[in-house]
Amino acid sequence: MKRIPIIVLWVVLIFILSSEIFAQELKPIQLPKPQMDGGKPLMQALKERESSRDFSLEKLPLQVLSNLLWAAFGVNRPDSGKRTAPSAKNIQEMDVYVATADGLYLFDAKAHLLKPILAEDIRGMTGRQSFVKVAPINLIYVADFSRAGTMTNEEKEFYSAAHTGFISQNVYLYCASEGLATVVRASIDRPMLAKAMKLRPDQRITLAQPVGYPRK
Ligand SMILES: Cc1cc2nc3c(=O)[nH]c(=O)nc-3n(C[C@H](O)[C@H](O)[C@H](O)COP(=O)(O)O)c2cc1C
Repeated sequence: MKRIPIIVLWVVLIFILSSEIFAQELKPIQLPKPQMDGGKPLMQALKERESSRDFSLEKLPLQVLSNLLWAAFGVNRPDSGKRTAPSAKNIQEMDVYVATADGLYLFDAKAHLLKPILAEDIRGMTGRQSFVKVAPINLIYVADFSRAGTMTNEEKEFYSAAHTGFISQNVYLYCASEGLATVVRASIDRPMLAKAMKLRPDQRITLAQPVGYPRK
């Protein structure tokens, strides 16, 4: 049998390793401008707001993801940088992470961009219920206590819970308006998820919320 030159083996090995590295590299996603017109009238969206746990595997188009994240916690007054959800003393300690099949991203509201965090599908770790890995995206709400100034721990916990509620309800209303399924969830193994997300000890997971099309 003819022997393969060692140099050829090296080239093949480098090629395999580099393609593996590139495959693991997650790129930032610039979200398209959110569409702020359209949608159902507020009273109708309120009428249709509900929790739903039956998701289809269908991915969300980028425009829908853009609109959803803007509704959730986007910048609605560029002059001040203030957002679609209120914030006690405007501390803005909340972050919205987006877990997808491709990996984990952090929503940068100012740049309306998804920052890559982890090239791993951690959707299954975002909750104790089996549907969490079916929905195409899972929003994970994280309070960064390092941004909460001189507040006491009790205040930090109280405000971050309240802030999460406002963001979550924005998501509920957008979903009701767009015919999407969603449910806010507290049933999370937080230590496991925090480890998977590589969070610091002063970053606290509050709730998570999968979003997707309803299963037909
Ligand atoms: C703080 C909070 C935590 C929740 N946690 C979960 C959860 O872990 N899993 C789940 O399936 N639903 C969860 N829910 C959804 C509730 O079960 C749901 O809102 C309730 O049954 C009322 O239904 P509705 O949202 O359709 O009005 C949670 C809701 C809230 C407000």
